[in-house]
Amino acid sequence: MVTVDSTRCVKCGSCADECPNYVFGSIPDANIGEIAVRYPEQCCACGHCVAICPENAIRHKEMPAERFEDIPDIQISPETMRHILLSRRSIRTFEETPVPRELVEQLVEAGIHAGTSSNGQTENFIILQDRSVLSELEELVIEVLWKAGLRYLGSGLGSRLAEMKYGTEMTRECMAYYHIIRNRRQNHELEGMIFRNAPVVVISHGLRANYLAHANCAIAARNMEILASATGLGACWAGFLTSAAHISRRIARYLGISTDRNVYGAIMAGYPKHKYRKRIPRKDREVRWI
Ligand SMILES: Cc1cc2nc3c(=O)[nH]c(=O)nc-3n(C[C@H](O)[C@H](O)[C@H](O)COP(=O)(O)O)c2cc1C
Repeated sequence: MVTVDSTRCVKCGSCADECPNYVFGSIPDANIGEIAVRYPEQCCACGHCVAICPENAIRHKEMPAERFEDIPDIQISPETMRHILLSRRSIRTFEETPVPRELVEQLVEAGIHAGTSSNGQTENFIILQDRSVLSELEELVIEVLWKAGLRYLGSGLGSRLAEMKYGTEMTRECMAYYHIIRNRRQNHELEGMIFRNAPVVVISHGLRANYLAHANCAIAARNMEILASATGLGACWAGFLTSAAHISRRIARYLGISTDRNVYGAIMAGYPKHKYRKRIPRKDREVRWI
């Protein structure tokens, strides 16, 4: 599956150093530093060995060298990166202008290029643009969240029990949603509150058996959000959707996701209607150095 072409190998050891699964090692009793494939059965086909070898000496059956692109010499200054990270905002009001398909494809590509646990790459994506589907899904999300517990927060007893079980901070966070969703259900106010009438929603779903599927989908969503912000789009997490999917299988079923999978990440995206003028200060957080 993976071999080292010894006629090309310059024994730099970079493949062995960077291999996540210790596939390579030096050959005992051979020339000092000679690199060999010692444990091919441990390979996760991540392609790092092929990508890092300065002499194209690695041959990998699943990751043929022709599929690898050279990394272009594009420098992003630390200030630009910091600017993108500190100035990115969740965007909740969008122009009606549709997002070009190529741009949506680039967002998904950024999501696909996020790292995945064990290099599993098993997270998949669903792009929703159909307004009627988004509004049906919104109704479903609202019903799931309401029936699963938000409705109980309206009574003193319910909120006290919630505080005992989930703590003061989580209960305070959820109280706001109790009011918002109650208004939405009773008064038909706040239509579009789940997806904010965004022209595009990108969902990522992963294997339920994978404890790290949440993280994989979240990182993919973060990549998409950051690229969106750098390309002039705006994006925001659709956390009500992922919460509802966590509570009820109805969400995954509605989306035609197989029973071994669930939705763990979702963003809404579109051209922002408004422009933020200021960075937002954050709460002081405990940061411990040990
Ligand atoms: C996991 C997660 C879920 C979120 N879900 C929603 C959501 O469903 N609706 C929404 O309007 N904002 C949602 N947000 C956006 C947060 O409200 C937002 O990140 C926070 O207020 C800080 O603002 P900023 O993203 O502009 O820095 C979510 C954010 C995260 C990280």
